Amino acid sequence: MDKIKVAVLGATGLVGQRFIELLAEHPYFEIVDLLASERSAGKKYREAANWVLSSDIPESVADMEVKLLEVENVSKDVDIVFSALPSDVAKAVEFKFAEKFVVCSNASAYRLEKDVPLVIPEINPDHIELINVQRKSRNLNGYLVTNPNCSTIIVLLSLKPIYDAFGIESFAVVTMQALSGAGYRGVPSMAIVDNLIPFIKKEEEKIEKESKKILGTLEKDHIKEAEMKITASCNRVPVLDGHTAVVFVKTKEKASLEEVKEVMKSFKSLPQELNLPTAPENPVIVREEQDRPQPRLDRNAGRGMSVTVGRIREDTIFDFKFVVLGHNTIRGAAGASVLNAELLYKLDKLG
Ligand SMILES: NC(=O)c1ccc[n+]([C@@H]2O[C@H](COP(=O)([O-])OP(=O)(O)OC[C@H]3O[C@@H](n4cnc5c(N)ncnc54)[C@H](OP(=O)(O)O)[C@@H]3O)[C@@H](O)[C@H]2O)c1
Repeated sequence: MDKIKVAVLGATGLVGQRFIELLAEHPYFEIVDLLASERSAGKKYREAANWVLSSDIPESVADMEVKLLEVENVSKDVDIVFSALPSDVAKAVEFKFAEKFVVCSNASAYRLEKDVPLVIPEINPDHIELINVQRKSRNLNGYLVTNPNCSTIIVLLSLKPIYDAFGIESFAVVTMQALSGAGYRGVPSMAIVDNLIPFIKKEEEKIEKESKKILGTLEKDHIKEAEMKITASCNRVPVLDGHTAVVFVKTKEKASLEEVKEVMKSFKSLPQELNLPTAPENPVIVREEQDRPQPRLDRNAGRGMSVTVGRIREDTIFDFKFVVLGHNTIRGAAGASVLNAELLYKLDKLG
């Protein structure tokens, strides 16, 4: 098959690099344009990007010239534009790109906008239908689909099987988030070595608000938010990749510990049914060791697309508690957008 041509916005950053790694050998997609700021424009990708991944820069992009972030700089035959832009920059440009192209974005700028789908393919693939409302009201040839904040994706994947089987009345989350979540220039080493920082700007609000939209119900032209109480407290820790969260959950219906484990272990959804290339075989992996999951050992599970849950046990205030871990720049960012794009392709939504 002729591959679908794609562009990456913010291609030089940490998430941009993950996009390139995931897209370089992709069976459906082929990178034809890389865009970034004035700092990088005009340079070859290998000179512009401070490549931090353990894989080599793919040969197919290493000598590609990085272009300045302008709609006109995207080739006409491109179908999908992946965005790994900082939120303020995304806010200014993403809908300009959506006038012409399908935009799959990581940025938070439009996630909570009424007509913008906020999608985790294993959880709410039906929310994609909001693109019809969006196209009409904004008069677009393309459209914008977003993926959630990294911690939200990781936590919700672990909760979705419980939500489906027993309902959720409330949940509380305490995160321990990796440095790569803040971008390459995010946290100075002097601030984080021998330390942790008990604050990540806007992160707690994102988990609380995005979760209600994602678990909500599609009603004609909007999403009716899920009704549940959510509270989050977020910490930055000196780990390079892999966000860990301790989750406490109160279910609507009574369930046993074994039942909770079983629904997590057996959880599969549309991406697995459709055999999407980036979908992990098991979105949720349950480990029984008393000291797992750990970032160094578990972040690459399912090629970075599975989340790993451990220490599932009963709780005296909530009903259950457990630890979940996922790769923040793969499942929590670039991999999430690529999976959204694969779903759009398989559902024939690219035309
Ligand atoms: N890191 C994560 O785990 C994670 C998870 C989920 C979502 N996200 C979101 O993904 C986005 C990217 O995050 P990141 O961690 O990859 O950030 P990053 O490492 O700081 O990279 C930012 C990218 O955006 C480009 N850029 C910055 N300002 C620009 C401008 N004015 N015009 C054009 N391009 C510009 C940069 O290009 P230059 O190199 O040319 O400056 C770079 O390619 C953010 O919205 C972030 O919130 C990140």
